[in-house]
Amino acid sequence: MAMQNIYDNQTFFEGYMQLRENNANANELFEKPALFSLLPDLTGKAVLDLGCGFGDHSKAYVSMGAASVLGIDISENMIQEAQRKNSLPGITYIKLPMEELDRVEGTFDVVVSSLAFHYVKDLAVVLRMIHEKTVPGGTLVFSQENPLCTPFSEGERWTRDENGNKLYMNLSGYGHEGERKTRWFVDGVIKYHRMFSTIINALVEAGFVVERMNEPLPSPELLEKYPCYSDLLHKPDFLLVKARRS
Ligand SMILES: C[S@@+](CC[C@H](N)C(=O)[O-])C[C@H]1O[C@@H](n2cnc3c(N)ncnc32)[C@H](O)[C@@H]1O
Repeated sequence: MAMQNIYDNQTFFEGYMQLRENNANANELFEKPALFSLLPDLTGKAVLDLGCGFGDHSKAYVSMGAASVLGIDISENMIQEAQRKNSLPGITYIKLPMEELDRVEGTFDVVVSSLAFHYVKDLAVVLRMIHEKTVPGGTLVFSQENPLCTPFSEGERWTRDENGNKLYMNLSGYGHEGERKTRWFVDGVIKYHRMFSTIINALVEAGFVVERMNEPLPSPELLEKYPCYSDLLHKPDFLLVKARRS
């Protein structure tokens, strides 16, 4: 399976790490609280973190009581950063694409994936592997870029008024699923667009029951502090799903 490993591009990696160091980023304000709110009780659980990145989440799962966390990521840069910054007894980090999850031994009570599924070409195949690795009754919680954002590849993302204020997002090609090449720190970043129905049907066909979905929006208090996030009222940036292995 063809896979891009963009986080090992040094320019991309440095840009991304800089973004994450700013505490007012959308991950910290919206995605992470929404993801954590969907987690079951992790006490004593075996957790798998797919696309673990630099390991902040894996470490948090241990502090929430997880007995063990296995973090896997396709990027050498990210795994090195995770080992340097977020090593704890109970956590193991492995450099491995999630498309090769069948090479991992054992099963997990809880599988979590934060903002990595939109880099996966064949999500249906990966979900079937996750199902194999999840204990019966176990939980999958994931976030990804919202399907209203993933159709975009180039051009102007917003239609604006004469003062430059955003009026609405330019959405096209929603029904044309598949690869998109975008610019994010560097040219040629590959992501995959899937419709909402495709994502949910792939979960169901893999053997999961969807329990909850979330598209986090800014609260009035947050908007007062960070008015730039009013964009999210036009279209949410993230989609989060909690599913149970039936
Ligand atoms: C946006 S980052 C999120 C990192 C981390 N989950 C977090 O939220 O802090 C996406 C991560 O997914 C990883 N990734 C992308 N494609 C992957 C794949 N096919 N298998 C495993 N990891 C992948 C990237 O290397 C990167 O570390």
